[in-house]
Amino acid sequence: MCGIVGYVGSKKAIDILLEGLTNLEYRGYDSAGVAVNVDGKVQLYKAEGKLQNLKDVVEKNYAEISKSTIGIGHIRWATHGAPSIINAHPHTCNCGKVAVVHNGIIENFKELREKLEKEGCTFRSQTDTETVAHLVASKFAKTKDLTEAVRLATKEIEGAYALCVIHQDVKDTIVATRRNAPLLVGLGENEYYIASDVPAIIQYTKKAMYLDDNQIVTVTPSSMKLIDIDNNPIQGKIETLPWEPVALSKMGYKHFMLKEIHEQPDVVRNVLSGKLRAMDEPITLKEVTLDKEKLKNLSRIQIVACGTSLHAAMVGKYIIEDFCGISVDVEPSSEYIYRKTITDKNTLVIGVSQSGETADTITAVRQAKAKGSHILIVTNRPDSTMAREADSLVPVYAGIEVSVAATKSYMAQLISFYLLAIYMAEIKGSMDVNELKDLKHELIVLPQKIEKVLAHKEDIQKCARAFSGSKDFIFIARGINYPTALEGALKLKEISYINATGYTAGELKHGPIAMLDETMPVLSILMKGKVYDKILSNSEEAKARNARMIALTDSSDTKLNELFDYIIRIPEISEILSPALAVVPLQLLAYYIAEFLGKDVDQPRNLAKSVTVE
Ligand code: G6P
Repeated sequence: MCGIVGYVGSKKAIDILLEGLTNLEYRGYDSAGVAVNVDGKVQLYKAEGKLQNLKDVVEKNYAEISKSTIGIGHIRWATHGAPSIINAHPHTCNCGKVAVVHNGIIENFKELREKLEKEGCTFRSQTDTETVAHLVASKFAKTKDLTEAVRLATKEIEGAYALCVIHQDVKDTIVATRRNAPLLVGLGENEYYIASDVPAIIQYTKKAMYLDDNQIVTVTPSSMKLIDIDNNPIQGKIETLPWEPVALSKMGYKHFMLKEIHEQPDVVRNVLSGKLRAMDEPITLKEVTLDKEKLKNLSRIQIVACGTSLHAAMVGKYIIEDFCGISVDVEPSSEYIYRKTITDKNTLVIGVSQSGETADTITAVRQAKAKGSHILIVTNRPDSTMAREADSLVPVYAGIEVSVAATKSYMAQLISFYLLAIYMAEIKGSMDVNELKDLKHELIVLPQKIEKVLAHKEDIQKCARAFSGSKDFIFIARGINYPTALEGALKLKEISYINATGYTAGELKHGPIAMLDETMPVLSILMKGKVYDKILSNSEEAKARNARMIALTDSSDTKLNELFDYIIRIPEISEILSPALAVVPLQLLAYYIAEFLGKDVDQPRNLAKSVTVE
């Protein structure tokens, strides 16, 4: 969703702002803008659509704009008001001296707007953000102090925000603050960067300070001052960012998505490293602080997540129930938060999120926390808001994921769930020792099997070409691979815009079968195990209705050749671990179809990488 970059120092601010915004582009947006200060005057440049449009605007005035050594920039994902130049950030007050960029939603913006209009403010946009510009200006008129003006403004604002503010009359100063939206300050030599996420600044500095809620930071080229909302000084914690700038390079791949799919063998190795040492040693999960006795006595587990993370959670349910015998409910966070929160201290609540910033999941875990549940967070971002809510943390170490469509983070979440389920089973003693050893061995050799799938990607490319003209797609599976069917369908619709749906194969005849004819491809996930024969029968039923059939299987049974028009074969794997292998060809299938159709693979229309509004 929206992204923020700020800079104050001695370099050309515009270069840093545009580069930073480019590195946030992957989050999804529909307009962009910057504010700089040239010869003592705040100047705004904005454009609708892709960042390139803003770059073109800047290009025309580059000589002038590049004089500024201070600036704030923003990419906007529309919430209040259509994507347009008027609604793009930065927003200013009446006289244009205050410029503000904002991520989040100001919930009481209507009340504030009415009040400010009565005071004589003229609003130009439909955004909630513009209220902040007017409010800060009104406070500044009384205090003549930008930090104080921002502090007083935040006392009146309700909702979620990361804000970055400059004022024409307060030279070389940026004031930034946050509440329920991420923001960090990067430290350079006589320069400071502000960003809503690490990729915006990682190529300039690895030294950074994360802001906590209700903290206000004021930076000039030579100083940084941090206070809380009650004006108490705070000592910020300076950290070294764990990422390398190279993470933001495509490394020769055509798209980030393809690169990230190929990173999955190493992602599995990373997740296992230090946790699964040997087949006869128990799993170590240092960050899980849930008391062992409490863990043994857990009556229930609830898992909340959205999107791809929800599918990982569904696999998690299957394996935790299987390994530990504890009942697990999985629910989309956006549903969980609008019904009675029935949880207690004997229930473990797990939040799963790649970004750790998904608003619905944050709210869900907060609601559960308030009821006394132990909160365990599975996230790719140990620096995120959600991670801060955690009693126990399982960082998944997938590395930065740039493509909007999640691939390697899903893999990392799955492997983390296997580790967590084994960890719990070992404490509970609920799993056979030999079975455990076999599973651990399979996990260790999984990266090689994924590599084999990747080595045969041309087969999947051919299949993609053959089916890229389809308007609809059905994915069927049963049991532990039902979430794989959902994830395969989600990947396809996200990046190719083909109407794809995942069904449990048994449900096919309760409705979806009515849609089947020669125009409808059905992809059956046929992994050897207890539901193999059942899915085979369901596939026969689909074939009898003339559907075009694709099999994804680890079986070498040649009889499948008669039933299926296309067979994607993958290495043999136990049914329980098969979701971690079966998903890879589905990611590739979606990728190649989208690529073949010429879609914007890494930044699909309307989607955002991290959905920070409910
Ligand atoms: C967005 C992204 C999805 C992601 C979902 C949940 O919709 O486009 O790829 O799965 O949010 O995000 P999270 O960061 O919580 O996993």
